[in-house]
Formats: sequence, C-alpha cells, structure tokens
Amino acid sequence: MRVLITGGSGYVGSRLTYYLLEKFSDLEIINYDISLFGDEHLPNDSDKYKYYKKDIRNSEDFEEVIKKHSVDVVLHLACISNDPSFELDSSLSKSINFECFEDLVKVSKVNNVKKFIYASTSSVYGISDNPRVDEEHELKPITDYNTLKAKCEPLLIKYVDNNFHGIVIRPATVCGYSEKMRFDLSVNILTNHAYINNKINIFGGEQYRPNINLNDMCRLYEMLIFKDLKKFNGEIFNAGLQNLKISEIANIVKRVVEKRKSKKVELNFTKSDDVRSYRITSDKIQNILGFNFEFSIEDAVEELCENFENGNLTDTFNTKFQNIKVLKNKLEKKEFI
Ligand SMILES: NC(=O)c1ccc[n+]([C@@H]2O[C@H](COP(=O)([O-])OP(=O)(O)OC[C@H]3O[C@@H](n4cnc5c(N)ncnc54)[C@H](O)[C@@H]3O)[C@@H](O)[C@H]2O)c1
Repeated sequence: MRVLITGGSGYVGSRLTYYLLEKFSDLEIINYDISLFGDEHLPNDSDKYKYYKKDIRNSEDFEEVIKKHSVDVVLHLACISNDPSFELDSSLSKSINFECFEDLVKVSKVNNVKKFIYASTSSVYGISDNPRVDEEHELKPITDYNTLKAKCEPLLIKYVDNNFHGIVIRPATVCGYSEKMRFDLSVNILTNHAYINNKINIFGGEQYRPNINLNDMCRLYEMLIFKDLKKFNGEIFNAGLQNLKISEIANIVKRVVEKRKSKKVELNFTKSDDVRSYRITSDKIQNILGFNFEFSIEDAVEELCENFENGNLTDTFNTKFQNIKVLKNKLEKKEFI
C-alpha cells in the first residue's frame, strides 16, 4: 500500500508519519510538502519513506509523483492551516487552500488513486450555541479559511465513484505532542504556559471548543487508509471527543501540571472579544464508521509534560512553534509566494 500525504511535514502529518512507519512494515509513505515550517524533523528517505519538497499548486509535479509511486491513497492535509495565518496573504492562501484542490482530486482520480481523504475542519460550522452540531448542521463559516475549507468538500464528493472513494473529515482542534510541534493550538498553548511559566492567562473562557487528541487523529487516519470505504463513499464525518469551555480546558491543564510539578499554576481571566464558540457531535464517526476515541485532553497534557521533562521540547516560546510568526517572516523576506 502506497500513501501520499500532502502536508506530511506539518504538525499532524509528521506525527502520523512516525506512527505509521513504526506500526507497518509494508506501507510506503510519500510526503509531498513544501515544508513551510521546516523539514529537519522528518525521517530520512528509505524504501518506506520518500519526501518531495514540492508545492501542491503545481499539478504537473503532483502528477509525476503520483505516477512514479503508483499511489493508492491520498491524504490531503496541506494548507495554510489557521485563520490568522490565512489572513496574512489571503490571495496566496486561497491559491493553496482552494484553487488547486480540484486539480489534486482530478489528477489523483485519473492516475488510479483508489481513495482520497480530505482533512476539512470542524470550524466550517461557524458560531453556534447548538450543543449538538452534527454533519447535517448548516455551515455558517465566519472566516475565509473556514469558508474555503468548506468549499473544497463538494469538489471531492463530485468525483467519487466505485473506483475512486472519497471521504471528508472535519477534525476538532488537535492537541498533543508531535515531532513538528505547534504551540498555537489551544491545549498546547495553555500547557506551555502552565508548565514553563506556572501561569495561564485566559481571554474570556466561556467559549466552547471541540478537541481531538493527536493520537486519535493518527488512529483515525490509519483506519481510513486501511478500511474499505465503499459503504462510506462521499460521506462527511466530524471528529472530536471533548467539547469544553476554554476555562474548563485551563483547569484540566492546571490540575495535570500542578500534579506533575508539585507547584501551583495561577489562572488569570481577562475579558475577550473572541466570540467564536462551538461544539460538535461525533456520534456518526463512532456509530457508523466504528471509530472509538481512546485519548483525552488530559492524556495530551501529560504527554506534552513528558516531552518537556525528557528534553524533546525546549525553547518552546520560540516563534518557530507558531505558524503565523514563521509564515509572516517568510512573506516579509519574500521567501515564499
Ligand atoms: N491542527 C488542528 O488543530 C486542525 C484542526 C482541524 C483541521 N485541521 C486540518 O488538518 C490539516 C493539517 O493540520 P496541521 O495542524 O498539521 O497543519 P500544519 O500547518 O502544521 O501543516 C500544514 C502543512 O502544509 C504544508 N503546505 C502549505 N502550503 C503548501 C503548498 N503550497 N504545497 C505543499 N505543502 C504545503 C506546510 O508546509 C505544512 O507542513 C490541515 O488541512 C488543517 O486544516 C487541523
């Protein structure tokens, strides 16, 4: 089985790559990524792993790689992956997150890829006070990033047939340790502040956020890569376990970190204008697809603490851990267009 991961150098893609390489000896992974946030953490090329530092907007390059490796499955993760980074240069971001998407699907299909998995986002629903936001819920994306993630979904579904299976996942905010760490995601930010500074500043706190542990994210992509998706062809699935208020997440982080360090963690609450609040329900992925969540936010916080302690994570306030700062720097230096 040969799997091409676009965005395989990123936060999710890197952890997934190491997870799959460790678990399967008969899987070939092809990482297709321009590696905006670095590639020094990636495995060396081998029989089981090949890295192409290439742009998804170049469909000829993409086709060449797909053909060369007779790819069976495409997992599409590459994008400018949050609102503030997207807004740094919205026309550039649009070209990456949306304009090239249909070509990636078409090129995959004509070159005998059997399955295309698209990582959308649970933020496509926008703000909702409905406690049960399932896949049928109206999409009211409030930013361009969310809008374009949503607009890709039907472009994949349009092409699915008996020989080309497609599936859309709408993941919650991911948390936990990765070889390519991001400290711009809520649980990860809070844990960094709690562990290093013994203090967390919370803006607002009443906003709900759905979460998924990165270990479960990897288990889910593993399942989708291997499972026969005939019965689920063209389906959309939410993927998140815990819907919690930011203040509740902060309290979990406080509890775990205090226990590990035997030191008090201070919580400071400040008013916020951030109104984004939403919860998703992931009943469908559990009941229909048969996926079981196994890892919690607590587990992610514990795992991050372990990696602070064992020295895997150092200098964690360095801007290299924040997508927006890295991207801003690259754009200013005109290193990326
Ligand atoms: N991390 C989350 O909390 C979360 C939540 C919901 C959905 N998602 C989705 O999951 C996917 C992965 O998220 P992540 O956190 O790993 O993001 P990330 O920013 O860490 O990784 C994205 C990768 O895409 C690559 N990329 C960007 N533009 C490219 C281009 N033109 N050509 C080739 N590669 C390019 C980057 O170099 C980077 O390695 C994204 O599609 C994101 O929208 C993530």
